[in-house]
Amino acid sequence: MSSDTAKPWAGRFTQATDAFVEAFTASVDFDQRLALYDIEGSLAHARMLHKVGVLSEAECNAIVDGLEAIAVDIERGDFFWSVELEDVHMNIEARLTDRIGIAGKKLHTGRSRNDQVATDIRLYLRAEIDAIVAELDRLRSALLDLAECEAGTIMPGFTHLQVAQPVTFGHHLMAWFAMLSRDRERLLDCRKRVNVMPLGAAALAGTSYPLDRAYTAELLGFERPAENSLDAVSDRDFAIEFVAAASLIAVHLSRFSEELVLWASAQFGFIDLPDRFCTGSSIMPQKKNPDVPELVRGKTGRVLGHLTALLVLMKSQPLAYNKDNQEDKEPLFDTVDTIKNCLRAFADMMPHVEPCRERMYKAAQQGYATATDLADYLVRKGVAFRDAHEIVGKAVRLGVDSRRDLAELSLDELQAISPDIGADVYGVLSLEGSVAARNIVGGTAPDQVRNAVAQARDQLLRHAGA
Ligand code: ARG
Repeated sequence: MSSDTAKPWAGRFTQATDAFVEAFTASVDFDQRLALYDIEGSLAHARMLHKVGVLSEAECNAIVDGLEAIAVDIERGDFFWSVELEDVHMNIEARLTDRIGIAGKKLHTGRSRNDQVATDIRLYLRAEIDAIVAELDRLRSALLDLAECEAGTIMPGFTHLQVAQPVTFGHHLMAWFAMLSRDRERLLDCRKRVNVMPLGAAALAGTSYPLDRAYTAELLGFERPAENSLDAVSDRDFAIEFVAAASLIAVHLSRFSEELVLWASAQFGFIDLPDRFCTGSSIMPQKKNPDVPELVRGKTGRVLGHLTALLVLMKSQPLAYNKDNQEDKEPLFDTVDTIKNCLRAFADMMPHVEPCRERMYKAAQQGYATATDLADYLVRKGVAFRDAHEIVGKAVRLGVDSRRDLAELSLDELQAISPDIGADVYGVLSLEGSVAARNIVGGTAPDQVRNAVAQARDQLLRHAGA
């Protein structure tokens, strides 16, 4: 082993690390993803060390120049990552010392890899939350556009996947929008707890150097320094919380995916997915498979798995830092990648989803979707709701037996079931009448959908401006 790859702890050891143990304990293969955040944290730490008089101006400048040059090399892909140097932190520090000599060895004053890695992850996650929120907003905006166009498009609403009542397609899309809006809030709430700075906690107990933690935090854009050093280096609850929020996004996307897959089938035929988001079959020439939503639905499994992995990783860990925590990175990184890719796929695809309005309308005509409207009509005529329910049940049975929709039953037939029914009943038996009647805040009437879209658009614009 060359002297520049000697372990920082070599002084206390009489044996070199076992080759397998070295590879087994190394994290550089995956934590190199944190490199630029590691450098950002080190730059702030060095500047703070200079401010409080621990580093001279010349030492600070040498460190800053050295780290900036290393960042350029890394971005160019011109950096050799050594497994012997275990992780991203030691790789960068060793390279810095190679470049600038003794000043490089002073960078780690008042710091430990324990507070360093916790800082890196927080910087990384903060940036990724912002990127995910941007993708969420792109998808939300695409949903609003489609919902506005389809505010008056009638489709069957389902409960138990059985036709229940007619709804508008725009209303259905706005339900998706509402789920994603809560997902956005959850991410931003989680971000507050991510945006706290561990540096200054050092290994676990804090440090005897007169560090100005508030200054470092300010340089890094953190809200404040973490209040307890033991907690700061050990807990990963902020990452778990993020993966929990991401799990809900994944669950929501899996629900949307399931509906898109169903709707794109010949049996439903409610939508057409753009060819470039689908694939064919190598054997069945007629196939056009909704691979993108299927895959997004499938990706939910890995995100939910990562949540379990991180919860179990944290469970029962004694204070403070334990090497267990090195296992936090791959689940976290994969969660970020997966969620970003799934949102991107959806945001790209959504503007090109073609609704088949006739098919939706026809489906709403089957299945007695206006039965509740008939019951409500009878209630308005003075019939008690439970009695109305029974009367309508009889009308539906007549329809089922004679294979006709309620609107196709004659007035005589309807009046034979209930004398309270008049000729005006056909107004409520129409799908248009049914959806228009649900003109209540949060309801499916086209006017309500347009209002909901307009309000959501204002909110999106406010967010974008903020
Ligand atoms: N690679 C380590 C991690 O990801 C960095 C911190 C190592 N600290 C230590 N005391 N071994 O957690």
